[in-house]
Amino acid sequence: MIPEEMRSALARKAASAESPREQAIDVMFELQDHYGYMTDEAMEEAAGILGMTTLELEELATFYDHIYRSPVGRYVIHVCDSAVCWMEGYQRIIDYLCQRLKLTVGGTSPDGLFTLLPVCCIGYCDRAPAMMINRNVYGRLTREKIDRILDRLIEHSQFHEME
Ligand code: FES
Repeated sequence: MIPEEMRSALARKAASAESPREQAIDVMFELQDHYGYMTDEAMEEAAGILGMTTLELEELATFYDHIYRSPVGRYVIHVCDSAVCWMEGYQRIIDYLCQRLKLTVGGTSPDGLFTLLPVCCIGYCDRAPAMMINRNVYGRLTREKIDRILDRLIEHSQFHEME
């Protein structure tokens, strides 16, 4: 269950929209940040806040690549598998990520930190191959650049664990 303060803030946000549906994705993102993914409980809470049915929300959730209905790692890596990235080395990037993080596409690393998913074009075609991690976009990927990005995220997560 989400804290009352959070529920009130989300309810105000929903009420400020012409139609609650406009706020559905934002509300689900906030609940997802709270729960780690959109649990059934989170879906019911979102439905209550937005005045929508869970079925309506389910339809939206399945349409959006960034709403997760099952557990994911702290960092979700979406690697673009559209045409330009494909030509510019998608497979090389995917293979390296799988090897480095010890996972397969669609899976989560053994330490629970990373989930790897393919995604359609993220608008970084001029900087292909590209990927997105938790809504941050990275382009012109090389093994070295991927190592730097992942090392920073691992370091960041260790720092937070110590807090
Ligand atoms: S094709 Fe990959 S970002 Fe557009």
